Amino acid sequence: MQVLRLLPALTAFLYLLLSSGAQENPIKPQVWVHPPNPVILSGSSVVMNCSTDCANPTKIGLETRLKTTPEGNGSNWKAWRLSNVTWDNSPLCYVNCPGKKQGSIRAHIVVYEPPKNLELNLEPSQEQSSLPWIPVGQNITLSCHVAGGRPRENLMVVLLRGTQEMSRQPVPKNTLDTVFVKFWVTASREDDEASFSCRAELNLQPRGLMRYQNSSAPLKFYTFALAQEPPVLVIPKLLEAGTKEQVSCEMDELFPVEKANIQLSWGGQRLIQNITRHGDMLRATATVMAAKEEKGDRELTCNVRLGNETKNVSEDLTIYTFPEPRLVVSEPVQEGYRVNLTCKADLTATVMIEGATGDEPDRMSLIVQEKDNGRLFTCQATLKLRGETLHKNSSLNLNVLFPPKLDEKCPGNWTWNEGTEQTLQCIARGNPDPIVKCVPENQQTGMPLGIPKTVTRAYSGTYRCTANNSLGEANKVVSVVVMFQDVDLRPILVGILISMVAVGIVISGGYLYYRQQRIRSYELKKAQEARALQPIKAEAKPCP
Ligand SMILES: *[C@@H]1O[C@H](CO)[C@@H](O)[C@H](O)[C@H]1NC(C)=O
Ligand SMILES: *[C@@H]1O[C@H](CO)[C@@H](O)[C@H](O)[C@H]1NC(C)=O
Ligand SMILES: *[C@@H]1O[C@H](CO)[C@@H](O)[C@H](O)[C@H]1NC(C)=O
Ligand SMILES: *[C@@H]1O[C@H](CO)[C@@H](O)[C@H](O)[C@H]1NC(C)=O
Ligand SMILES: *[C@@H]1O[C@H](CO)[C@@H](O)[C@H](O)[C@H]1NC(C)=O
Ligand SMILES: *[C@@H]1O[C@H](CO)[C@@H](O)[C@H](O)[C@H]1NC(C)=O
Ligand SMILES: *[C@@H]1O[C@H](CO)[C@@H](O)[C@H](O)[C@H]1NC(C)=O
Ligand SMILES: *[C@@H]1O[C@H](CO)[C@@H](O)[C@H](O)[C@H]1NC(C)=O
Ligand SMILES: *[C@@H]1O[C@H](CO)[C@@H](O)[C@H](O)[C@H]1NC(C)=O
Ligand SMILES: *[C@@H]1O[C@H](CO)[C@@H](O)[C@H](O)[C@H]1NC(C)=O
Ligand SMILES: *[C@@H]1O[C@H](CO)[C@@H](O)[C@H](O)[C@H]1NC(C)=O
Ligand SMILES: *[C@@H]1O[C@H](CO)[C@@H](O)[C@H](O)[C@H]1NC(C)=O
Repeated sequence: MQVLRLLPALTAFLYLLLSSGAQENPIKPQVWVHPPNPVILSGSSVVMNCSTDCANPTKIGLETRLKTTPEGNGSNWKAWRLSNVTWDNSPLCYVNCPGKKQGSIRAHIVVYEPPKNLELNLEPSQEQSSLPWIPVGQNITLSCHVAGGRPRENLMVVLLRGTQEMSRQPVPKNTLDTVFVKFWVTASREDDEASFSCRAELNLQPRGLMRYQNSSAPLKFYTFALAQEPPVLVIPKLLEAGTKEQVSCEMDELFPVEKANIQLSWGGQRLIQNITRHGDMLRATATVMAAKEEKGDRELTCNVRLGNETKNVSEDLTIYTFPEPRLVVSEPVQEGYRVNLTCKADLTATVMIEGATGDEPDRMSLIVQEKDNGRLFTCQATLKLRGETLHKNSSLNLNVLFPPKLDEKCPGNWTWNEGTEQTLQCIARGNPDPIVKCVPENQQTGMPLGIPKTVTRAYSGTYRCTANNSLGEANKVVSVVVMFQDVDLRPILVGILISMVAVGIVISGGYLYYRQQRIRSYELKKAQEARALQPIKAEAKPCP
């Protein structure tokens, strides 16, 4: 109660205290604004209600640049519709109250806007016509453009590869309506043709609203890796005119190997090639062929392309001609003659006859003998080209002519048994092959050479064998002895005759005795039969 009584005095004291500077309107009226902190969608409208405890306010006003339309009034309140609110705003609500200072209060309108128009791009921006190629390991910048997405403090921008979240970034507050959020990425193999996208997430749940999110269209690019080293060419240095050779080119550590391109070309012309892949390696093989009349260097190039990069390697292939050496033999090649062998080749080649001595390795001179017939002579030509040594050989068998020779292969004595099968052989050596004939010296029937025959004593005798070829003839006398045995048959025949007579006598004597014995027993038998036949006679039946 005492306090209540004291109140007017206290109020007067306070009044004096406050109005010490400004003598009039010592007290401000109470002002409220509703809603005090609205969060509204950008472009929408909001009704702001200013009310006061002033009983008769002379003016209730709202200070704002926003378009306002009166929404209603009362004695101590006034409401306005603020339309098309696109930015955060703090309109001031003020009240003029008679006898009091002006009272005011600010409302804080927060404008939210879901993210939209998202776009993900590679920086620097690429031509749109085809997918860009990015070397693996290169640092790239992906820029995500976001419009809207306010309030910024509730916005997150996420970089996605497929559905995988790669990175997440807040957005600086003091940015304009559109913002570019940058992501730095080191290109990897996994990024090849992957769908990158960015997603903006506006989380207004702390403000009592929902989550908004929006995504960009997918962005794709190719990544590739190409080794620093050039491709490896496997080619011969030399190619003989008129021949073929296999060449190949390979390159390892290509990613993605399926998109790599390899091309072998020769003298500016693309070769028809065979491409094979083994893991990360690409290989092209082709056949190069030089025409017969071709000569000189031709460049072989291997070109590997991947992405926007190219790797080349080139090497020269030298086309050469190297005819075989010729071995020339002087005529005649005949027993006892001197024969000169000479090897001839191209001027650029050095030649050597195998076995040649002295300072003339390209020639040889010898007096040929029978034993040299068939001897092999080889001439080797050597050509040095681009550090490589080439060889070519040519050989020939010496054909030494020599007259016929009759010796061991035509034996001089033949001893045969009559009736046996034998062959008379007489072989002569000689070049060309001699023709051999053996003719009997007397008029006996001859025996053909080399054919098995049953020997009769008529073959006995002396034969003259002649071996004949273009260079001459050789003779040899060959004797044939046929062994036989004649026997005298007269004593044997007499012996046989005597024994036959003796045997005849013995046989006739024996027969006479036998016959006599036989007649006697026959008569006896007949008498017995006659007796036995009589009683059976009546039962006799006619024969069928
Ligand atoms: C404004 O506020 C006053 C006081 O709180 C209230 O009586 C009035 O109905 C409100 N007007 C509107 C349009 O909300
Ligand atoms: C209050 O509202 C009425 C109609 O609702 C209007 O006629 C009047 O002019 C308003 N007063 C003020 C001071 O705006
Ligand atoms: C809303 O305001 C924006 C600028 O802030 C303007 O471009 C647009 O035309 C306005 N819309 C309306 C319906 O007044
Ligand atoms: C996403 O943005 C597009 C414009 O880029 C808009 O048309 C769409 O409505 C937005 N989606 C959501 C869910 O906000
Ligand atoms: C890429 O960026 C990383 C760090 O962001 C750095 O370590 C690397 O050296 C960069 N690589 C290139 C090729 O610039
Ligand atoms: C390519 O090479 C493969 C394997 O070496 C072989 O089987 C195939 O026949 C070749 N093709 C051509 C056209 O040469
Ligand atoms: C290939 O493209 C990348 C970027 O895509 C660029 O940095 C590089 O210089 C290009 N290389 C060549 C050989 O054009
Ligand atoms: C590689 O080959 C291509 C086409 O054949 C040519 O344009 C380029 O200059 C070559 N590069 C080198 C380094 O030889
Ligand atoms: C063989 O060569 C020698 C000299 O080397 C020569 O005197 C001789 O006449 C030649 N003989 C033949 C048959 O060419
Ligand atoms: C040529 O002859 C040499 C020696 O006689 C031999 O080593 C070489 O293999 C031969 N070359 C050819 C291609 O026959
Ligand atoms: C061949 O017969 C002759 C006389 O008939 C004889 O002088 C010579 O020794 C015999 N030779 C052989 C090898 O039997
Ligand atoms: C063999 O030599 C004889 C005598 O020299 C000759 O008459 C005959 O024509 C020669 N036969 C052959 C086949 O050369």
